[in-house]
Amino acid sequence: MSASWIAQAERLVAQTRHRLEVEEEFDEYAGEFEKHLLTVLDYKLPEVLLHKAQLLPALPRVVDLGCGTGLCGRALRSRAAVGCLVGVDLSACMLARAKQEGGYDELYQRDLLAHLQREGSGAVDLLLACDVFIYLRSLEKVVTEGHRVLRPGGFFFFSTEAATVEEAPEGLVQRASGRYAHSRDYVEGLTDRRFQILDAETIDLRIEDDLPLPGDCYLLQRLP
Ligand SMILES: C[S@@+](CC[C@H](N)C(=O)[O-])C[C@H]1O[C@@H](n2cnc3c(N)ncnc32)[C@H](O)[C@@H]1O
Repeated sequence: MSASWIAQAERLVAQTRHRLEVEEEFDEYAGEFEKHLLTVLDYKLPEVLLHKAQLLPALPRVVDLGCGTGLCGRALRSRAAVGCLVGVDLSACMLARAKQEGGYDELYQRDLLAHLQREGSGAVDLLLACDVFIYLRSLEKVVTEGHRVLRPGGFFFFSTEAATVEEAPEGLVQRASGRYAHSRDYVEGLTDRRFQILDAETIDLRIEDDLPLPGDCYLLQRLP
């Protein structure tokens, strides 16, 4: 077996292990998740999304990547004219909560990239990815697939933990928490020529270690 095959196999094993760890973490957390996020961690994305949703036109098909228990999808639905709302998550227990709370038309337990690969080209009007890119190292594939599945003029709303250029000279960094942070330069470089950045805002994403954690929220529009 060649060295490159071995390296590829090792990468796949590491990715699979990482996904299983995330799945297990959120399966355990699902029961407490919403209460903890909203009352203790002061999670801001549903509120930010409520605000941005007012700017959006009717959205026949929305895919919520890493939907969790559905906090953001439900916030969106309460403000925007959403047709079909699809939720995708690795954790069966988070999805069970999303199902119980309602608001979604379809829910799938799978990796978000694997889901995007199943969506037809130009089939989606809005992609949501709230507080989930923190579990992905590179955003390259998700931006490429996101571009393919969005219709021209479609929207992509996502957040990242905000990394400074000093912290992440190569654009991304894995923090002590195990999660990833991405710099604005990195996101702008990836989306350049494929999306227009309609809005990029730094907010306090949630509380971490007793301090507000800065995050970037992006609203992109797919270029024709
Ligand atoms: C911090 S929670 C955010 C949930 C929801 N988006 C929200 O804003 O309330 C992150 C969610 O992403 C899911 N997740 C992480 N990596 C994923 C992946 N590669 N594919 C699908 N879901 C993933 C986790 O299972 C978890 O439910």
